[in-house]
Amino acid sequence: MPTIPTEITYGDKLGIRNLLEFQKNPLTFLYKIHQEHGPTVSLRCGPYRMRSLTETAHIEHVLKSNAKNYIKRTPGYSGIRDYLGRGILTHEGGPAWRAQSKNIRPLFHPAHIRDLSPMMLKWVDRYCAELKDHPEKDNINLSKIFRRLTLSILCEAMFHYDNQADIAKVSDDIGIGIQYAFAKIYDPLFWFSARNRQLARNFRAAKKRLREFANKIIEQKSSEDATLPNLLSAKGTDRQLIVDEIITMLQAGHETSATALNAMFFRAFKDKHVLGELEKNSEKLQGEELTDSDCFDYVNQFIWESLRYDPSTWAFDRYTVQNDTFSGLKVKKGELIVISPYVKHRLFGHWEDPNNFNPEANFPNAERKRSKDLMPFSLGPRICPGSTMALMEIRAITAIFLRTFSFECQDLENIGPVPSIVLKLSSDLICRVTPKE
Ligand code: HEM
Repeated sequence: MPTIPTEITYGDKLGIRNLLEFQKNPLTFLYKIHQEHGPTVSLRCGPYRMRSLTETAHIEHVLKSNAKNYIKRTPGYSGIRDYLGRGILTHEGGPAWRAQSKNIRPLFHPAHIRDLSPMMLKWVDRYCAELKDHPEKDNINLSKIFRRLTLSILCEAMFHYDNQADIAKVSDDIGIGIQYAFAKIYDPLFWFSARNRQLARNFRAAKKRLREFANKIIEQKSSEDATLPNLLSAKGTDRQLIVDEIITMLQAGHETSATALNAMFFRAFKDKHVLGELEKNSEKLQGEELTDSDCFDYVNQFIWESLRYDPSTWAFDRYTVQNDTFSGLKVKKGELIVISPYVKHRLFGHWEDPNNFNPEANFPNAERKRSKDLMPFSLGPRICPGSTMALMEIRAITAIFLRTFSFECQDLENIGPVPSIVLKLSSDLICRVTPKE
């Protein structure tokens, strides 16, 4: 049974203090209002009437049962739309989103994704070979390697494209796009800072290059195989929208996986027991076991615990189209609903050891990953279509890297996850990388 909701209104009337506190650190703010005021707290946050939900039944209602009433007409998504255009991730919803999503869905068919396993393993092996020959073995930016590797897998899976020089540039440009979008959404004094004005100039240049790259992919499509541009052209989608979908896929399909890997390696490097168990388990895996996202072993326990503890998508929001009543809760038209997997995944009562990174305690059996309290990929019709692909590639990269190399990472005690468009590490992982015998 859902908890009987307490309708608490929090903070000052105009919501200026709330807005500033939220913008300063949205994670601690959302966690604090849940701790102090419970699972359905509503508040004024600057111009918005905002409601934070943490109860599973309420979240399911908003994202699943009555998803039509809760759309992506939100400041967060409109901030990213400037960069990604009209692709499916930022689309408000409704019939146009459904049509576009249906056109893209064949790419995410489970059989198609499973067939990608040899291609993923090929890329991981290639990057291992590159790391072995790397001229600066004491000073390798592992985070950058994760960004390029996940982007290489994505580009081959979605576009059959594999030019490494382009991929390195695209990865940097996506980084600029994310930095810009986050600063625009969360920094109320954005235009007053010379640094941000420079960021805006860099962003305009990066956006232009990303569009040129998308156009190049469209020009180069040579066969009628299932690639994103082919599927969309066959449905008569206009050129501009195909460009937007390509950029959306570049962003949604690699940045989340790369930041998740970053956080995972950070946690493993900080905990010798976890690292030891991962290495032991990884050495046993062979062939397609390396991408088996369904099996229950320590590598997958570790991956699910990481997605619980450091969810890349730390929050998502929705706009309420019409007044709604559910589980005794009244939500008004225009309210902004905020759902934070980061907060939700830390609630007592759902997990053995919610506030610690603990794969054995929090994922003691395969059932736990099906828990309704776990939502790193969201729920309902807008659920992440790329989850299987992400889980397969993350598993292969984790297992193969950890059994091939030893890593000594600098400055771990000064690094930690911070909110950006995704939850990212405060700085890149810089490591000494030594091949194992
Ligand atoms: C660890 C990796 C990943 C995480 C944590 C993740 C998380 C999410 C979440 C939470 C959403 C829903 C946001 C919302 O409801 O507002 C989403 C949507 C989406 N994701 Fe992922 N994702 C990951 C990897 C991927 C990959 C690899 C792809 C593509 C190959 C992908 C493509 C998408 C797309 C296209 C959407 C938009 C779906 C729609 O709105 O219809 N994601 N992702």
